[in-house]
Amino acid sequence: MIRWGILGTGKIARAFANALKDTPDAVLAAVASRSADSAAAFGAEFGVARTYGRYEDLAAAPDIDIVYIATPHPMHAENALMLLNGGKAVLCEKAFTINRRQAEQVVALAREKKLFLMEAMWTRFMPALAEVKRIIASGEIGPVHLVTADFGFTATKDPAHRVNNPDLGGGALLDLGIYPLSLATALLGPVASVQAKADVGPTGVDLQTSFTLQHEGGAMSVCCCSFKVRTPCELTVSGELGFVRMNTQFHRTTSVTVSRADGHTRTVPTPFLGNGYVHEAMEAGRCLRAGLLESPIMPLAETLHLMGALDSIRRQIGVRYHDDE
Ligand SMILES: NC(=O)c1ccc[n+]([C@@H]2O[C@H](COP(=O)([O-])OP(=O)(O)OC[C@H]3O[C@@H](n4cnc5c(N)ncnc54)[C@H](OP(=O)(O)O)[C@@H]3O)[C@@H](O)[C@H]2O)c1
Repeated sequence: MIRWGILGTGKIARAFANALKDTPDAVLAAVASRSADSAAAFGAEFGVARTYGRYEDLAAAPDIDIVYIATPHPMHAENALMLLNGGKAVLCEKAFTINRRQAEQVVALAREKKLFLMEAMWTRFMPALAEVKRIIASGEIGPVHLVTADFGFTATKDPAHRVNNPDLGGGALLDLGIYPLSLATALLGPVASVQAKADVGPTGVDLQTSFTLQHEGGAMSVCCCSFKVRTPCELTVSGELGFVRMNTQFHRTTSVTVSRADGHTRTVPTPFLGNGYVHEAMEAGRCLRAGLLESPIMPLAETLHLMGALDSIRRQIGVRYHDDE
């Protein structure tokens, strides 16, 4: 049984607490909030035995195998460093940190302490992505040269809300753009160069951003993310003999469709457990039981690489955060 702790009691913390109910051999053993009342309310709702009104108390708590960080991105580095110093393995929400410099500090401490650390990029752990990779490797769609992916929904315009507030790491790129970026690199390899354009809003963060990547090896990906409009949230991988698509929205994929240039089309059902976050919780549990310090599906070197790519895109679109200083 893996004994989980959750840090933070917001939207994604609740989704993950629900996911743990559907995760085999996992128990939500503790939750921490900045407020004792919020921790108690969350604990009562999800049946959590231990609730803490200070994050430090979860870092110091005994009998917790791993803590899931569910705070806004500018807090991730500080929270992760505190938890690792308290001897806890960590699953950290995306964006992993605000920038690559912070990510390097967190990864270095995990390696020094020999503790498991993983970016909670949940779509990387979906069986559908493994099936897409298998189809590519089989040669069915021929040599692959292009990925196209989009992720957008209409967000609140409230300037104080996390998604618009620069002090809380607001902006579409770090919240949404990381998904197409991460999936494109999972499929096509590391980024060699990037060109980006953005629509920067009144609070100084990007409301929508598009970026074209050239990957090492020469393949390209064309990605966009938006807080201004609802987009189809599709991902298509194209090869010389056809293309494969994650249906219907890539983050809720329950099947993939292969469409070949010879006219043949087939659809393969793929598992999607619980609310989707179950797959990352299962992978973290598998790694802990196997004594791994990182997941081969979302290695730390790749998390660092992706944070570097996000830094490059932000330099081009002129979005800076306090912690970039
Ligand atoms: N994987 C996904 O699908 C997904 C979806 C949504 C968000 N996320 C990520 O999860 C993180 C949290 O997003 P969310 O939508 O859950 O945010 P949220 O609803 O605002 O919750 C964030 C929580 O963080 C804690 N917190 C600590 N310092 C804070 C501060 N200065 N201001 C506000 N809250 C603070 C609060 O918990 P306490 O008051 O209990 O301390 C708050 O409830 C972000 O990094 C986001 O990118 C991931």
